[in-house]
Amino acid sequence: MPKDWYEWHDLYNTEPKLQQRLEIVQEYIAHSLNAFPSGAIRIVSVCAGDGRDLLGTLKNHPRINDVYARLVELNPQLVERGRATIESLGLTKQIEFINGDATLSTNYVGAVPADIVIVCGVFGNLAEEAELNRLLDNLSFLSKPGAFVIWTRGHSNGIPYSETVRKILRASDFEEVNFQLTATGDMGIGIHRYLGENLPQPKEQQLFVFAGIPSKAR
Ligand SMILES: C[S@@+](CC[C@H](N)C(=O)[O-])C[C@H]1O[C@@H](n2cnc3c(N)ncnc32)[C@H](O)[C@@H]1O
Repeated sequence: MPKDWYEWHDLYNTEPKLQQRLEIVQEYIAHSLNAFPSGAIRIVSVCAGDGRDLLGTLKNHPRINDVYARLVELNPQLVERGRATIESLGLTKQIEFINGDATLSTNYVGAVPADIVIVCGVFGNLAEEAELNRLLDNLSFLSKPGAFVIWTRGHSNGIPYSETVRKILRASDFEEVNFQLTATGDMGIGIHRYLGENLPQPKEQQLFVFAGIPSKAR
């Protein structure tokens, strides 16, 4: 069991569930990039880890030079690794990796509203359903109308939590573009479009509370 989030990322080397999840997330990021007309595409990644989903997609994507992104992550080692990748891709002028608290709206100022919002590995780390509703509500600050929101939600104890997420999204300002389960069957990955308005000021300074711990990550 991983002790910290840096160690948790090592599971990408061995766990089919995480490897398949990454593949689908990257497919959705590429799909979103392809959907925009020429010009700048703004992206934010909430609790970005080492940014492998976005950076791994950009490496081989024709829109690489159009992307302006901010990734927000608390763990300094993951940020360091992400920054090294950004440098190796020659993207330091376009992509910022903030070592900070992704639950605070202040860490997104200047980078939003975004065309693509990546919230992977977050929903399963919220304490309760009310917190998911709060985060989705606060996406009005991060997202342009029509923005793609890419998310993941693992299942546990036979409970298909990703179905709960889809139900909540259906009842909110989101339209499903695609949803897939990993071949392992216990991880859902969704891509939705945000249909609401953008709020230039956040409703709350704290957008959500990240309650998860790496040894229990879902
Ligand atoms: C389940 S991992 C997901 C990482 C990445 N998004 C991915 O899918 O590979 C959750 C991440 O959230 C980060 N995290 C936890 N609390 C945070 C906070 N308050 N602000 C920013 N990042 C946070 C952890 O350090 C960890 O990298």
